[in-house]
Amino acid sequence: MVGVVVVLENQRVSSAITLASFAKPRKVEKKICYETELGLSLEKRTRLLNIIREDNSWSNKQSGLYFTNLYAHHTQWLMHKDHSEFKELVDLVDNYLATSVLQIPFRYETKECWGGIYGKDDYAKIHSHQPYLWAWCYYPFAPEGSAPLRFHEVKGSGAGKVGAVSSEFEHEVYPHDDLLVMFGGHRRHSVPKSTTDKERVVIAGNAHISDLLNKSNF
Ligand SMILES: [Fe+2]
Repeated sequence: MVGVVVVLENQRVSSAITLASFAKPRKVEKKICYETELGLSLEKRTRLLNIIREDNSWSNKQSGLYFTNLYAHHTQWLMHKDHSEFKELVDLVDNYLATSVLQIPFRYETKECWGGIYGKDDYAKIHSHQPYLWAWCYYPFAPEGSAPLRFHEVKGSGAGKVGAVSSEFEHEVYPHDDLLVMFGGHRRHSVPKSTTDKERVVIAGNAHISDLLNKSNF
């Protein structure tokens, strides 16, 4: 466990540049998710899809100590370690997180990265990505009619209480080709059953402060 203690010598000097002023935690908490397009070429996105298509090693593993919440085609969990194309994507995502979302002097990095393909009737049940601080979904291909990514409110949570997750959603994002969606790892989310035969292709990741939460720490 690593702790960071910041002591402000003069709390009344609001214009002083401090570690706290870089962190801007209120901005992070207000927003449910962040969206951007990464600008990957059709060729690169097709290559990512083909790699995902070749690996269904974690499809239909919805139980056990380490499991998936997706009821869809699912690759192994460390694609960025085995494929340079995924590592390139992860570097883009981590850079976006550091420069456009957080603006804090810590280095975050994606620890896990996997791919999925949703066909007709595929879905993901409500889940979060805790204990990771950040999670993301990138869509190489999400044709019209693709199911949305839905975020669910935790009702009744607060100091000392464990909240119930509502099946109603408070926000949804309809993906399109080349979209990146980034959100706090605590955000409960789901994907309703796909109603189209077209493939909805997603690459997902979990990010945390570098040197924390490597797989071996679990
Ligand atoms: Fe997820």
